[in-house]
Amino acid sequence: MCGIVGYVGEREASSVLLSGLRMLEYRGYDSAGIAVMSDGDVQVRRSVGKLQNLADLLEADPLQGRCGIGHTRWATHGRPSEENAHPHRAGRVVLIHNGIIENFLELRAELQRAGRTFSSETDTEIIAHMIDVAIQGGSDLLAATRSTVAALEGSFSIVVMSRDEPGRLVAAKSATPIVIGVGEGENFIASDVPALLEYTRDMLFLEDGEIAEVDCDGVRLSRFDGTPIERQPRRITWDPVTAQKGGFKHFMLKEIHEQPQAMIDTMRGRLLLEAGDVSLAEIDLGAQWWERVERIDLVACGTAWHACLVAKFFIEKLARIPCNVDYGSEFRYRDPILDDRELLIVVSQSGETADTLAAVEAAREKGSRTLAVCNVVDSSIARRVDSVLYTHAGPEISVASTKAFVTQLVALLLIAVHLGRRRGFVDADTCRQLLEEMLHLPTPLREVLDRADDIEAVARRYAKAENFLYVGRGLNYPIALEGALKLKELSYIHAEGYPAGELKHGPIALISETMPVVVLLPRNTAFNKTMSNMKEIESRGGQIIVVTDTTDAAVDAVATDVIRVPTVNPLLMPLLLTVPLQLLAYFVAVHRGTDVDQPRNLAKSVTVE
Ligand code: M6R
Repeated sequence: MCGIVGYVGEREASSVLLSGLRMLEYRGYDSAGIAVMSDGDVQVRRSVGKLQNLADLLEADPLQGRCGIGHTRWATHGRPSEENAHPHRAGRVVLIHNGIIENFLELRAELQRAGRTFSSETDTEIIAHMIDVAIQGGSDLLAATRSTVAALEGSFSIVVMSRDEPGRLVAAKSATPIVIGVGEGENFIASDVPALLEYTRDMLFLEDGEIAEVDCDGVRLSRFDGTPIERQPRRITWDPVTAQKGGFKHFMLKEIHEQPQAMIDTMRGRLLLEAGDVSLAEIDLGAQWWERVERIDLVACGTAWHACLVAKFFIEKLARIPCNVDYGSEFRYRDPILDDRELLIVVSQSGETADTLAAVEAAREKGSRTLAVCNVVDSSIARRVDSVLYTHAGPEISVASTKAFVTQLVALLLIAVHLGRRRGFVDADTCRQLLEEMLHLPTPLREVLDRADDIEAVARRYAKAENFLYVGRGLNYPIALEGALKLKELSYIHAEGYPAGELKHGPIALISETMPVVVLLPRNTAFNKTMSNMKEIESRGGQIIVVTDTTDAAVDAVATDVIRVPTVNPLLMPLLLTVPLQLLAYFVAVHRGTDVDQPRNLAKSVTVE
């Protein structure tokens, strides 16, 4: 989720690039840089931290020229530092990149054998070297880019320039977005529309597997294999704020829709399908560390705590290691029994949550190993733990966590498989089947997103309710908690989650015709028991919204409303069931007119105890 900008024309490139990058700051950043063709060479300026640092640097040491590229980085490979900031240079080539190159270790080793040396820890730098090697071999910039992208695996967008071809930019897209802004005597490139709206509203959107050759006279599109493409620009009428939200009404809705891609990005390069295993080389807790783990403490806050509750099911089922789940705010105060046989796994989107960080300190003091599942590279938690497994959700802007949660579940399931395979509790065939289904999960997830209108209709019917209950069983019980948390955060409706079997031990007293109950009812071993709970609710006049993968008429007979989801492996059901609950909470909040992206009293990172 980096920000990319390119410009060629008659204006001062550095100011166009800087203003474009400012409009992309919402995508997250930890460093930024620009490169401009100036005095027969490409000059680069980069700085760590906010974009203003780069602006200050450019003021002190300006770059003059009419063609250039700019980048704000959201780190994935390598910590945020000036060396790791883009643009990256290799010989005559300067390049910016958004995405992840999966085979970068093999490619880098190959380049090293050919005598190339590297100045950063990034996967990006290898692309610049590969293009430079191809140019040295006689290719022009376009042909060199084409042969290079053919060798890359992963998701990427790149923009590249060469000092040998001034006034020319080449952009290539495999998965992450690239848009070309078409002007008169000038053209623009960006990872997102808002960066260009100040200059043009005529946009050409690159599709996966396409390359654009851009100079001030025009834009030529082709496929990676060289087939030319004819495409007319589209006129964009969005205002700048809508453009930042990708045309969605709120960041939250955009982030809900980004979940299939976020899941893919989090799995990318980590699944070994043939072996029925996963590769989590990032987790380095000592040789054969998994053999020494006798207990696991899972600690987090809020939504991330719900991910820990699901992870307990994953790990205990697949790896048979006893797990305890704690709130960050409770963990250290209960004087936990910890030693070096304990593994502490903390889960945090931001990596800055004070209570979760304090749990890390408590565990370290007692000699336990610490592992974080985290979304923000080099955040406080990421720096303090022994190892980090990053989720690749990209920046989450809406205060209510959505895509971070599903990627946390993906990462935690990968850890469970990793432990289970190494400790011999789960065989390759079982894991292969699970991982294959996991790889295909974005498809059923998109099917649920496609039913957003139906979920909105349900939300409209219940938007005036003042209380809600959510119930589920087993590993879907934490999803009931998460559904309730989303609803209360966004709409300020009082909502509680319970294990369905607990209803009769107290909460059933609340059931009346004014109490909607959301029931998670996947077709699994607990189906009949949850159906009985539904009947108990029905006989007390409760309104029942069922989320289920069955088409069973008996369900429709008891339910007031039914939201249907596709059937997936029971271990993956929590990931899928999360999505309709996010949409339900979102649409209820929209109907009540609350501030969806910044609900009252809440902050995105809770950095105080
Ligand atoms: O950044 P973290 O994942 O550590 O944040 C933890 C909670 O503060 C966070 O999940 C919070 O509950 C969200 N508002 C949930 O939508």
